[in-house]
Formats: sequence, structure tokens, C-alpha cells
Amino acid sequence: LRVVLLFGGRSSEHSISCATAGGVLKALDRTRYDIVPVGITSDGAFTLQPDDADLFALDATKLPTVVDNGTRVRFPESAATREMTVVDELGVETSLGDIDVVFPILHGPFGEDGSVQGLLELVGLPYVGAGILASAVGMDKHFSKTVLQQAGIAVAPWVTVRSREWAGDPTAVTASVASLGYPLFVKPARAGSSVGVSKVSAPAELAAAMAVAFHEDNKVLVEAAVVGRELECAVLGGRGGSAPRVSVAGEIVLAENTFYDFESKYLGGAGADLVCPADLTADELSTFQDLAARAFDAIGGAGLARVDVFLTADGFVVNELNTMPGFTPISMFPACWLASGLSYPELLDELIELGLE
Ligand code: DAL
Ligand code: MG
Repeated sequence: LRVVLLFGGRSSEHSISCATAGGVLKALDRTRYDIVPVGITSDGAFTLQPDDADLFALDATKLPTVVDNGTRVRFPESAATREMTVVDELGVETSLGDIDVVFPILHGPFGEDGSVQGLLELVGLPYVGAGILASAVGMDKHFSKTVLQQAGIAVAPWVTVRSREWAGDPTAVTASVASLGYPLFVKPARAGSSVGVSKVSAPAELAAAMAVAFHEDNKVLVEAAVVGRELECAVLGGRGGSAPRVSVAGEIVLAENTFYDFESKYLGGAGADLVCPADLTADELSTFQDLAARAFDAIGGAGLARVDVFLTADGFVVNELNTMPGFTPISMFPACWLASGLSYPELLDELIELGLE
């Protein structure tokens, strides 16, 4: 099978996507797959990259990026063909062969939000993961919370703030979020890996947090902080239209007074330990798994997702779904499946099979 691995991209999670690609390139079985690594630069150029996992390894001292080498990858020119080509830096065009499936390991806007999925639908290439709508809903925290709430799933209370509202009357916004109670979390509506997220302990800190979040998006969520254990589980779509499959749960154990921010996620800072499987009763686990499957269906998920929750004194509260979760060697998604009996290479096989369905 010829598989295009799409990674990098224009979002603030460019490097995380590269690190995910590094992990996937290392694990894919070359006797089964012919890999075409297509790196999207942070400017949005589609380039052909070397099939070299080490180029994209996650390294806390130097986050991996896609370097523009002057090549340009071209998608099929009609939905009737699956042939992709590459134009080299001298302008010479070469066939990359017929593509069986695209694996868009892209996080954040222009990748995990339905835009790349729309491109692939237009050119008629099968792809791994959620379709246009589920990707778009999963990316946008305002819409995903609205959809989950409508499905009867508990989410943290929140207020959505547009940049015009904040610019027009910050005092009114500050008053409207006060009922959520401090501390609060301020998050860009469409970002990931905690980029642009701040914890706000008092009204005086709100303006700085809003500025950071508005740097990422013109729509921001102000959320009540949820007190509880932070748990995640991994979902795989069902084969042949059957029900989604849910892994065992993993837990993020944090040092006190920290949150699971970018640094603790990827740079080894602030002491976040991933514990998988999490210590849950059989009842808690099955409640979580049922909730995760319902959340996946509520957004119209396909292929895969990671469902992030808090286990509070009042039960589970869904924090968010990620339709293309990180697969770096230290990520929770593959760890959850490993603890459920599916190795990393088997998980990739399964995702590719689902993409081909
Ligand atoms: N947004 C990051 C990649 C994750 O959810 O794992
Ligand atoms: Mg996320």
C-alpha cells in the first residue's frame, strides 16, 4: 500500500505534528507500506521529505520542523486519478505513483479542523481519521462543548468571548465570566497542545490571559476550572460501521498547582506523569468508556480520537476530544492502546485499514 504521511502544517502545533510523524515513520512496517512523507511547511508549502524518522524526533532542545527544500508535491488533478507528483527545485515533475491512502497526522487549524479533509475529499483520496464535520467540530471548543452538552454529556461551564466583545467592553466580559468563579482557564477556541492557554487566578490577570489567547484565535473560551483527576482514553472507529472501540484509561498526574501545559506535555517540564492504565474501579472505567464512545458519536467521529475528561466528585466531565491526537513516543493515545493490547505498529495498521474502508 502506498501511504502519504502528511505532517507539519500551518498551525502552532507544527512541531508536535513533526514529532508524531517521526514516531509513525519509525514504526510503519516497510514490507507492507510504501511511504511518501509530505511535510507541510509553516507557510503551507507541500514538500517531499526524506523518509527519515530521526529528522523529526522530539527533542526538547530543538523542536522538529519541516524545512522548505524547494520541492512541491501535487495532489491528483482529478478525482478520477490517484496519481500524485512532485516537482523538484529545478522544475522537473516526477510521479509519486498511485496513492492508496493519506494519513494526515496534522494537529490544529489547517489540518485537524476539516480543511485538509476537505481537500482530500475534493481530490478523491481516502484518508485516515475524522471527516470534515467531525474534524471542524472537534477543533472548535465552543462548538464541541455545545454538541456534547446537547448530547447530555457534562462539560465545564464556560463563556465564549469574541475579540470584538473583548475589545468593545472588557469590563462587561469580566463581569460575565465572574459567575464561573476563579480560578478560570482561558483558551483559544481553535488550538491544541495548550498553546495560548492560561490559568487565571484573579480578575486582574484576565486581560493578559485574553491577549495571549486572542493571539491564537479571534474566539476565546473562558472556562471554570474543574477539580478532579485528569483522565484520557483512546477511541478507534468500529470496523464496517460497528460501534467505536475504547481503550483503557490513562491518567495525567501533575505536580500540585501546575496544569498540563505545553512544556509539561512535550518538553519534560513541570513534572507531568502519564500513568496507564489508570487506577480506576471496573465501574468507573466502563462508565468512562461508554461516555467516550457517546462523545465520539456525538461529534460524528471516525477513525480515531482521544477523549479527555476530569473525574470529579460529581462524575465525569468531558474536557475535549482530539480528532488527531499526538502520537509522539511520549503520547497518551498509543500508550492507552498498548495497555489495551494493541502495539504501536498494530495501531497504525488498524488506522490505515479504517482509512481504506
Ligand atoms: N493536540 C495534541 C496534539 C493532542 O491532543 O495530543
Ligand atoms: Mg487538545
